Amino acid sequence: MSATAAINSADTRAVTNEVLLAVENVTLRFGGVTAINGVSFDIRKGEIRAIIGPNGAGKTSMLNCINGFYHPQEGRITYKGETRQRMRPHVAASQGIARTFQNVALFNGMTTLDNIMTGRTLKMSANIFWQMLRLGPALADEIKHREYCEEIIDFLEIEAIRKTPVGRLPYGLQKRVELARALAMQPDLLLLDEPMAGMNLEEKQDMCRFIIDVNKTFGTTIALIEHDMGVVMDLSDRVVVLEYGRKIADGTPDEVKSDQKVIDAYLGVSH
Ligand SMILES: Nc1ncnc2c1ncn2[C@@H]1O[C@H](COP(=O)(O)OP(=O)(O)O)[C@@H](O)[C@H]1O
Ligand SMILES: [Mg+2]
Repeated sequence: MSATAAINSADTRAVTNEVLLAVENVTLRFGGVTAINGVSFDIRKGEIRAIIGPNGAGKTSMLNCINGFYHPQEGRITYKGETRQRMRPHVAASQGIARTFQNVALFNGMTTLDNIMTGRTLKMSANIFWQMLRLGPALADEIKHREYCEEIIDFLEIEAIRKTPVGRLPYGLQKRVELARALAMQPDLLLLDEPMAGMNLEEKQDMCRFIIDVNKTFGTTIALIEHDMGVVMDLSDRVVVLEYGRKIADGTPDEVKSDQKVIDAYLGVSH
């Protein structure tokens, strides 16, 4: 479905009970450091799932396991019903897992539009020969992909900066371009690592709105690491809480908020 068609057709959320991704007893070690210690949880199709916990709890490492950057020594990850032992990031991407990073990772010298286009590379069908000549099937392909990217640009309201090199953009907009690039992959599962870190209040509110809109409009399942508890409470359907690599709580925002272990480990201190 094109972005515009999706925008016109859907306006209600489609949270289901179907498990899209299951993490079972995952343990990840770096030498003597156990970054993740026997963690299990699942992500249901259509939901917004928050992952919270103090610094060093293993949140980023967990996203890296899910998208194939890291390979856990123990445990299993099952995505769309298929259990994998090892998976490379590009395979995860081709199966519909996209992500953004804790620290913005864009091509600074390239424009907003070109950065977003890089999110389409996996979808390009013409071979490299035609692509280099920009002829025949490659030309038609590029036009189609460019159109899709323009729709994402409209959706995220970044028309005004489409030709601007991203290195010149303020941080909040860079984060939005990164989200745009991830969306250009048309992911089924979107992993966001602290999408609002370092933002001012207005930028945060915008980002919240876009995350909800993405979930509603495209039906994208979202796993989100976030420190701002207000944001977590507003956005997420369920929250998993990590501390020192272990899971200490898992439930609705209200359940987690009133859990004494969570209060002691995380909510009692300011972040
Ligand atoms: N590539 C790595 N090499 C060595 N240690 C790492 C690596 N990535 C993460 N760690 C360690 O794993 C632990 C969890 O880190 P991380 O997943 O980044 O936590 P969080 O995102 O919750 O702050 C930390 O102790 C961190 O130092
Ligand atoms: Mg992190």
